[in-house]
Amino acid sequence: MKNFNSSALHSHSQSTNHIRERNSRKYSLLSVLPLRFSLRGYGFCMATLFLFCFGSLFYQLNGGPPKILLDIRQYLGGSTYLDDHGQPAPRVLPFPSQVIYNRVGKCGSRTVVILLRLLAEKHQFNLVSSDIHNKTRLTKHEQVDLMKNISSIPQPFLYTRHVHFLNFTRFKIEQPVYINIIRDPINRFLSNYFFRRFGDWRGEQNHLIRTPGMKDDERYLDINVCILENYPECSNPRVFYIIPYFCGQHPQCREPGVWALERAKQNVLENYLLVGILEELEDVLLLLERLLPHYFTGVLNIYKSPDYKKMGNMTGTVRKQTPTLEALQVLYHRMRYEYEFYNFVRDQFHLTKKKIGLKSVSKPPAYSNDFLQQLALRTPEPLDEDEELETDLEDANSWLVHP
Ligand SMILES: *[C@@H]1O[C@H](CO)[C@@H](O)[C@H](O)[C@H]1NC(C)=O
Ligand SMILES: *[C@@H]1O[C@H](CO)[C@@H](O)[C@H](O)[C@H]1NC(C)=O
Ligand SMILES: *[C@@H]1O[C@H](CO)[C@@H](O)[C@H](O)[C@H]1NC(C)=O
Ligand SMILES: *[C@@H]1O[C@H](CO)[C@@H](O)[C@H](O)[C@H]1NC(C)=O
Repeated sequence: MKNFNSSALHSHSQSTNHIRERNSRKYSLLSVLPLRFSLRGYGFCMATLFLFCFGSLFYQLNGGPPKILLDIRQYLGGSTYLDDHGQPAPRVLPFPSQVIYNRVGKCGSRTVVILLRLLAEKHQFNLVSSDIHNKTRLTKHEQVDLMKNISSIPQPFLYTRHVHFLNFTRFKIEQPVYINIIRDPINRFLSNYFFRRFGDWRGEQNHLIRTPGMKDDERYLDINVCILENYPECSNPRVFYIIPYFCGQHPQCREPGVWALERAKQNVLENYLLVGILEELEDVLLLLERLLPHYFTGVLNIYKSPDYKKMGNMTGTVRKQTPTLEALQVLYHRMRYEYEFYNFVRDQFHLTKKKIGLKSVSKPPAYSNDFLQQLALRTPEPLDEDEELETDLEDANSWLVHP
């Protein structure tokens, strides 16, 4: 920060001298007035550029966003405070060769992982999908182990696991580019609630056999009771779920509050190439295709192909009960940080869409009662995420052989 200020002063005074010198030459002319103003404007402009230039340099030296992310954003054009460099945009889209998708549970990641299986073959990158589905936070030692493991995968690779954000920079390992997808928080919660109890398209009987440990009291617990009587499953910190994926491994990242929220937001800006929202999955895939062509070219064709649609048919026959409006409102209040984060991510996503030239469908504001009533029914579920992913992928592979 000290550096930031001194460099700003330095570049500013430099450009003021610059103006004075050039002004003195045409001093006598009255008509020079507009010119003086425009030169002053020019000076300010240059000073601002210097400021951003030095600023972002020091920012990066202090562990700011990975350079490749800035390069990609710059290539896209437009500007956010993070990419105002004043350097010419690169002519070729930079190619990140390390990508992490730290997929959030019940946010459509099963769909995406199946697509990735197909894409990895098509584009010859290494897809590593962790088979650990129930461990999102790690000890410091486990973090270092995992990051070393990830870094040792032959590049280009895409690594995916249900895991809270890992800060490679902190351990002096090169930071990969992150991507992710989230979803309306209450819809995610409901999807998880009923999936835990009744499973998915493979049928309820199947699920009952696979989850013998669950007592009937729990399985058939009315969701309104769960919410209104503050069962742990329906209360904080358990419903503070999405933010920790973006905040990181710090214990405070799991405490519902502003600290975790703000850190998660900042992290989205600094380390994520794209965080899509499941409600606009086709646009997410389109953007991935544009931003990471070496990984995602052709993904929309696959997604829209009849074969894939057939697979998409094997989806949520999960018994869903819509909570009462009262319960939804209580839950909504309990998840206010999650919503603040979701809305932030959605706005960022729409911004990126705009840069690429895609229109955003405007949704009603999250606060109306109408919205709450529709909430549980709104999201079309392409193929829901599943804790036991691997067996489904076997199914996927059976038609993968004939593309
Ligand atoms: C995760 O699941 C495995 C088996 O699938 C189990 O042995 C292990 O105890 C679970 N770990 C946690 C933290 O729940
Ligand atoms: C890292 O890789 C090694 C060998 O492949 C494996 O034994 C180990 O469990 C991995 N560690 C983590 C944290 O994934
Ligand atoms: C990651 O670690 C770096 C260096 O310790 C730190 O500056 C940065 O704030 C951390 N980022 C997150 C999101 O934890
Ligand atoms: C999806 O399933 C329904 C009912 O099982 C069937 O009528 C329909 O043809 C299927 N669609 C596709 C694309 O397979």
